[in-house]
Amino acid sequence: MKFENIQQQAQREWEAFNRLERPRILIGAVTCGRAAGALSVRAAFEKELATRSIAADFYEVGCLGMCYAEPLVEIGLPDGQRVMYNNVTEKMVADLVEDVIENGNPRPDLALATLGDAAIEGIPDVSNLPMMEGQVRIILRNAGLIDPTNVHHYVARGGYSGLARALGMMPEEVIKEVKNSGLRGRGGAGFPTGIKWEFARRTQNNTKYVICNADEGDPGAFMDRAVLESDPHAVLEGLTIAAYAIDASQGFIYIRAEYPLAVERLNLAIRQMEELKFLGENIMGTDFNFSIRIKEGAGAFVCGEETALIASIEGRRGMPSSRPPFPSDCGLHGKPTIINNVETLANVSEILNRGAEWFTRYGTEKSRGTKTFALAGKINRTGLIEVPLGITLKDIIFNIGGGIPDGKKFKAVQTGGPSGGCLPEELIELPVNYEELTKAGSIMGSGGMIVMDEDSCMVDIARYFLEFTHKESCGKCTPCRMGSQHLLRMLTEITEGKGTPGHIDTLVKLGETVKSGSLCGLGQTAPNPVLTTVRYFRKEYLSHITDSRCPAGVCQELITYSINENCTGCRVCLRACPADAITGEKKELHVIDPDKCTRCGTCMDVCKFDAVVIS
Ligand SMILES: Cc1cc2nc3c(=O)[nH]c(=O)nc-3n(C[C@H](O)[C@H](O)[C@H](O)COP(=O)(O)O)c2cc1C
Ligand code: SF4
Ligand code: SF4
Ligand code: SF4
Repeated sequence: MKFENIQQQAQREWEAFNRLERPRILIGAVTCGRAAGALSVRAAFEKELATRSIAADFYEVGCLGMCYAEPLVEIGLPDGQRVMYNNVTEKMVADLVEDVIENGNPRPDLALATLGDAAIEGIPDVSNLPMMEGQVRIILRNAGLIDPTNVHHYVARGGYSGLARALGMMPEEVIKEVKNSGLRGRGGAGFPTGIKWEFARRTQNNTKYVICNADEGDPGAFMDRAVLESDPHAVLEGLTIAAYAIDASQGFIYIRAEYPLAVERLNLAIRQMEELKFLGENIMGTDFNFSIRIKEGAGAFVCGEETALIASIEGRRGMPSSRPPFPSDCGLHGKPTIINNVETLANVSEILNRGAEWFTRYGTEKSRGTKTFALAGKINRTGLIEVPLGITLKDIIFNIGGGIPDGKKFKAVQTGGPSGGCLPEELIELPVNYEELTKAGSIMGSGGMIVMDEDSCMVDIARYFLEFTHKESCGKCTPCRMGSQHLLRMLTEITEGKGTPGHIDTLVKLGETVKSGSLCGLGQTAPNPVLTTVRYFRKEYLSHITDSRCPAGVCQELITYSINENCTGCRVCLRACPADAITGEKKELHVIDPDKCTRCGTCMDVCKFDAVVIS
């Protein structure tokens, strides 16, 4: 079938999807929604509707990014009313069915936002939600809006038009278009995508490969998973365009096996592409042939590094190797190979659809476009956001993320995953782009963003991240293998009150050595949390070392629990203490024996009178 006919059919299906001849229920049901209970909520809706003999259409859609509000359910009615409800529980379902679906009452008290054209008093439009205002959704253009299992929904919203356009251009022109867009790789290093493709195009070889890197090993990062589960075709289209540009006929998606839903969606999407002749032989009636295979990885962080990833696909142990040669010269099975991140490829499909000039309207001169971030930690609105590069940390954390919970004070933000730097309040106005983050000692990384409040100990945070990178070090080169071990040992000593003033200088010197002497990006960035916390929070290190004090009250060896005059003598803590460290008569002030206390924190958790304090 010709692409125009596929587009017409897609348009008809998309219009039918939005016509709503009967109630339509959309449930955000990718992995994050499911973890919050989306599937039980769906089952409860089905049961309730069946009991009341109401016919309705159900669709599981992707992730809108509002993790804090999941499960999210959108109820649409034939009269045009479309309202989204947040934190929906099974208990709420009967009310929603009776009030919203049967009686047409939109229940503003339970609603989060309206969608579509019909405004409803007392309910904001979704685009006016503070978490949505300020976002620009290119990578997430379809997430939460389409049925990710329906290729026609994707086509109806412009999908595969980029591939059709690319196939009408010379491969060199496609590369030029990507170069003109200024797109930089979103996997971490920010290397210009068009230039990488040009290298691979120029390398003469009959066999070339393209690989989509969907390893996503950073703890707390879920941007790529959300894109693959919510809009797999956006990535597959980008990969196919990349293959055409460099003249590859085989592609791979390297994805961790812990992402079963993403793998399922990709497998289905690949079958759909084959049926529509977007993959296989003579794609869209041209002489371009291309196929895609999925390779599931076992989940080692280092396997996201491109040379380790290649080794893993080849069936070897996933260990990085030195570059040059770069994969664009000598990659998978010794052939020219390009490796691009999920997000990079989701950008490519839209750049080819809308043109490079359109893309350059977003971002800054050297960091064009948008970036997704997984907002986590001490922040009110956790979730997945997409913002133009150049936006400030303050806008992300306070306007989009809603600031710090419980009236606590912002202390630091870590960008870039476990190897990123911790940036302090003084840098809250920092524009988020590749150059500024690097200057500040951090990295863009793949998009993790962890917010910390006054209760976070920066030495402990550095120790925590280093523990991760140390465990994930493949051990091939000494600076990373041994250096990370010594850094971790010194940090642990400081958190245990065994640090000396010399520790700080040694941490810095060793950190710099590990950075400059390590073979791959893991070792080259692993010291970032240590170096930035020493740079911006030196006083906190000194408190641990010279005063044996953890100002945030986190490091167990450096804190003492005691009971103040708020104590009512209720005896709750005394009964709960596992170490029998608390004594006191009923209705009298209780006392903690510091020699017996194991600092487990139970007394503080159970006391309702704020009488247990840390010093
Ligand atoms: C330890 C380590 C882990 C990495 N993990 C990933 C990953 O999960 N996903 C990714 O796209 N890139 C990851 N990278 C970066 C890749 O090596 C590579 O630069 C990237 O996939 C290239 O794609 P891009 O040009 O589109 O950014 C990692 C790098 C290192 C050093
Ligand atoms: S830097 Fe670390 S992870 Fe990378 S090759 Fe060396 S030991 Fe392995
Ligand atoms: S729980 Fe609180 S109020 Fe009750 S005895 Fe313990 S410290 Fe006192
Ligand atoms: S911190 Fe734990 S061990 Fe110490 S007094 Fe409280 S409950 Fe007992």
